[in-house]
Amino acid sequence: MTARELLRPRTTIDLTKRPRRLRGSAAMRAFVREREVRIGGLVQPLFVVDDNQRVGEIASMPGVFRYRVADAVAECRELAAVGVNAVLLFGIPDFKDAYASSAHDPSGVVQRAVAAIKTALPEMLVIADLCNCEYTDHGHCGILDERGDVDNEATLELLGKTALSYAVAGVDIVAPSDMMDGRVAYLRATLDASGFSGIPIMSYAVKFASGFYGPFRDAADSTPQFGDRHTYQMDPPNGREALREALLDLDEGADFLIVKPALAYMDLIRAVSEISDVPVACYNVSGEYAMVKAAAQNGWIDEDRIVDETLASFARAGADIIITYFAKSYARRHARVRPV
Ligand code: PBG
Repeated sequence: MTARELLRPRTTIDLTKRPRRLRGSAAMRAFVREREVRIGGLVQPLFVVDDNQRVGEIASMPGVFRYRVADAVAECRELAAVGVNAVLLFGIPDFKDAYASSAHDPSGVVQRAVAAIKTALPEMLVIADLCNCEYTDHGHCGILDERGDVDNEATLELLGKTALSYAVAGVDIVAPSDMMDGRVAYLRATLDASGFSGIPIMSYAVKFASGFYGPFRDAADSTPQFGDRHTYQMDPPNGREALREALLDLDEGADFLIVKPALAYMDLIRAVSEISDVPVACYNVSGEYAMVKAAAQNGWIDEDRIVDETLASFARAGADIIITYFAKSYARRHARVRPV
């Protein structure tokens, strides 16, 4: 063959391979679908308020409400009816101080909600978010030192007390979201020493200092009164550090890892799921919810399609569990008709 012939651009079109063959019908597409969102792996976050707090819809999160304990139980019944079997509780207390005292009050709002839900619906998995920012008057996630930064060890002791009070109330899983160093090991030791070795720890292992939490802080009244959370939550560009956090928490005995937020951190959902030997959750946070709702209310996007696509992409990225404010509506739309 001459050089000229060898260098001739290839012009033959080979259409023996046609990917469209496997897209021709709904049945075929369902047959070859690689990933599915498991309704059993969805978690609905719930905001539970103490007696004197405002109830009702959260302005920046249309369709998400702040509930009193009895209404949270009613909401759990509705969730169970569509197949959502896990809730993540956030408490909004009447009383806040510098030491987050109401976080470990045995009759605090989360403790009462846990007990009420488990009594009414023993099958519901009740996960309690474990943090102090909703309970401190300054809005930071722990006890402050003299420089105004969060004191790691003092905060661990506080988290331990609160975790124990949740365990006594009957919680199924505790989910520390404070980002203190060593908290998984500390909580494991604390729970085990009090006879709660059976309670798993779902660690917010990879949690970034994110603008996507804005609407949550409105909902939970937990905006820091000064400064920000950059000395304890992670710096958004850091992927290698995310793996370090994940490995440390695995080593300390975490039973689940959470990556949070989700959408802007999909690479890390994938990376963490590849190194983790425990289930990996992602948290589709308040700002991600608010953006979809706002665009949908303007008629700019089709909410249901966007939600389906987004949740499928979390599963594709490697998330086993998806924490999302869309859990109920997703499950309602996709609940299989049960045979009678
Ligand atoms: C508590 C906590 C936050 C979220 C979950 N747990 C807020 C924060 O860290 O500021 C955010 C959840 C969301 O935005 O949906 N530390």
